[in-house]
Amino acid sequence: MYGLVNRAIEQLVIASKGDIAWERVCLHAGISSDGFIAMCPYDDDITYRLVEAVSVELSITQTQVLEAFGEYWVLYTADEGYGELLDAGGNDLREFLGNLNLMHGRVEGIFTQMKLPRFRVEDIRPGEFLLHYDSERPTLAPMVIGLVRGLAKRFRQTVHVERLLSAGDIAPGHAVFMVIEKSHAQTEEQ
Ligand code: HEM
Repeated sequence: MYGLVNRAIEQLVIASKGDIAWERVCLHAGISSDGFIAMCPYDDDITYRLVEAVSVELSITQTQVLEAFGEYWVLYTADEGYGELLDAGGNDLREFLGNLNLMHGRVEGIFTQMKLPRFRVEDIRPGEFLLHYDSERPTLAPMVIGLVRGLAKRFRQTVHVERLLSAGDIAPGHAVFMVIEKSHAQTEEQ
């Protein structure tokens, strides 16, 4: 995974727990705390070891780490100079997610060795849709929950998002999320 991802994990830990906590995470993960180069691809195993070490440091599950990381990723990439790319993706959550492959495609022009995840939106009714996620890295699926929450915050929307674990969802590398835009739901109930 590109260093940009590992750097975001580093920033998340330092912002919430400080430098010493990050040193402990690196020690536990068996990696140097010298830092990562954003534009350099690293072995995926480093990212997985970091996630495991952060879960020990923060006493939360790896699923919770990935959810928190996904939410943070939206803020982090905006801060790192990709805000305009995020702005160009759409005016609300549904529109943005529909354009996500296009946006990541543009990112691929910068991070040329990146292994792109693929997303597909399946509308159910206004304000309610399924988000399909295909990735070579199935263990990252909980990150998508945080990403959707982070994007919703960026658009000042309130959402409910959950992963569907039905029999049809067991294909390796495929995950499905139900997204309900609460503002829509409330409007419909009134
Ligand atoms: C403009 C902002 C963004 C940039 C610069 C960016 C860049 C990247 C990069 C460099 C990677 C690592 C890929 C690799 O090393 O193979 C990645 C992975 C990923 N990105 Fe983005 N991304 C952005 C926004 C988003 C958003 C908004 C989402 C929302 C769903 C998203 C979802 C993901 C996921 C799920 C992965 C994990 C890769 C996998 O499943 O294999 N990204 N992104």
